[in-house]
Amino acid sequence: MRKVLIIGATSAIAAAIARLFAKDGDRVFLIARNEEHLKATADDIAVRGASVAGYRSLDVNALDEHRAVLEEAEGALGGIDLALIAHGTLPVQIDCERSPGLTAQELQTNAVSTIALLTRLAERMEERRSGRIAVITSVAGDRGRQSNYVYGAAKAAVDTFLEGLRQRLHKSGVGVTTVRPGFIDTPMTAGFRKGLLWAKPETAAKRIHAAIGKGTDVVYVPWFWGWIMLVIRFLPRSIFKRIKL
Ligand SMILES: NC(=O)c1ccc[n+]([C@@H]2O[C@H](COP(=O)([O-])OP(=O)(O)OC[C@H]3O[C@@H](n4cnc5c(N)ncnc54)[C@H](OP(=O)(O)O)[C@@H]3O)[C@@H](O)[C@H]2O)c1
Repeated sequence: MRKVLIIGATSAIAAAIARLFAKDGDRVFLIARNEEHLKATADDIAVRGASVAGYRSLDVNALDEHRAVLEEAEGALGGIDLALIAHGTLPVQIDCERSPGLTAQELQTNAVSTIALLTRLAERMEERRSGRIAVITSVAGDRGRQSNYVYGAAKAAVDTFLEGLRQRLHKSGVGVTTVRPGFIDTPMTAGFRKGLLWAKPETAAKRIHAAIGKGTDVVYVPWFWGWIMLVIRFLPRSIFKRIKL
């Protein structure tokens, strides 16, 4: 029975993962902003078998609240074996291009808050010499594209942070899983036209849950995004700058 903390737990992807942990009978503590949504998610996983289904509301941008909230989660779970960070916002790129303030705010929510949480979680797990941290980044972080490079830059920052953190924590027996989803049909992408490359949150959740269980370092979700991004990463810059992506 694992002790699982999920931040951004009401996200469609994270809630689907929480249901899988509940099925395993794990102890689960949920964090997001919306208290009503959190309660509904906690009630749902309790019915599905979670041996603890706690929750706490937090705006992740309130960095000075992180320590107390993590301590509360740790107390409710009796420790933390696995921390999954899943919160995120997808800004309208053109709005960011017109507003340095909005750009900074999006970098704060999607990168700085995550890195601040990772700093605290890493310290605790390193001290105990056990645990796993999993973070949902995005294929958008693999290469900057004109359609979403503010969001992509934030995800790339977290991805690079995780790469270094994985090396640092390896010797302490703490694992780090980077999750890079492609297109997933969730409230975040409600306004997008869906096609062949799109997956349901439940499908994504199964792959993420399995990757965490196996201790995978980096996982693309669904699997074919690994191949798509390989091609995109290796496109020569002289061509890449001319195409519309
Ligand atoms: N959907 C996709 O196609 C896709 C693709 C690649 C990566 N991702 C990433 O996957 C993760 C989950 O995405 P999703 O599509 O499942 O998202 P979603 O359903 O829109 O949920 C977003 C989550 O982030 C939380 N959140 C946002 N701002 C917050 C804040 N300031 N403080 C606390 N919580 C905050 C929300 O909680 P409240 O509602 O309580 O604010 C909610 O739980 C995100 O990191 C996203 O960037 C998604």
